[in-house]
Amino acid sequence: MIKISPSILSADFARLGEEIAAVERAGADAIHIDVMDGHFVPNLTLGPPVIASLAKVATKPLDVHVMASPIDHVIPDYIKAGATYLTIHAEATHHADRALHLIREMGAKAGISINPGTPVAMIEDLLHLTDLVLIMSVNPGFGGQSFIPRALDKIRMVRQMIDSRGYQVELQVDGGIKPDNIHEAAQAGADFFVAGSAVFSQPDYQTVIAELKKNGEIGRAARR
Ligand code: DX5
Ligand code: ZN
Repeated sequence: MIKISPSILSADFARLGEEIAAVERAGADAIHIDVMDGHFVPNLTLGPPVIASLAKVATKPLDVHVMASPIDHVIPDYIKAGATYLTIHAEATHHADRALHLIREMGAKAGISINPGTPVAMIEDLLHLTDLVLIMSVNPGFGGQSFIPRALDKIRMVRQMIDSRGYQVELQVDGGIKPDNIHEAAQAGADFFVAGSAVFSQPDYQTVIAELKKNGEIGRAARR
């Protein structure tokens, strides 16, 4: 099944709890929370205290994408705050193996992400420790950017790595996903889609989430 994780980066930050409830009613499968530190990426958003508040109102899994470096020493804070998935960047730690072990030991799902300029080889020896791989299809930092087509090749390569080893790893893509391009990413092998501006720019979240899922399923069906 295709899963949609609306990114609250494009939501109204003055009404985050209401926005989460609205996308949950509209069919969201998870809530994507972008943590930015003003250092690893040129933007600053929120951290564990806000996530802890959002965890009290959300009923769907919290899909926490941390764009911060250093990261290792604060991993426990995000998990205690309520992250269901904790995705860190391979570029943000010298010890991704240890960090992913820690995330799992603390009871969260371990995600690893790579930027558009990072080769997929960087995560090849981490797949056995991950529950989710996140391929960035924009340079992280901002919502509303255009999808970088090279991400499709990277999705294909990671899908092949996962399937050839028989792992159960979710393959997520984040950045520039819209109803008119989601099928390509699904056909390439992604099954979990982040969508920020595509959802929150619309007056009717239910319609756009349904359209994303429908077009994603079309792409997935065309995979084989
Ligand atoms: C970008 C973030 C994304 C962002 C996606 O740094 O990681 O999650 O919110 O926004 P859209 O879907 O508008 O590209
Ligand atoms: Zn994100």
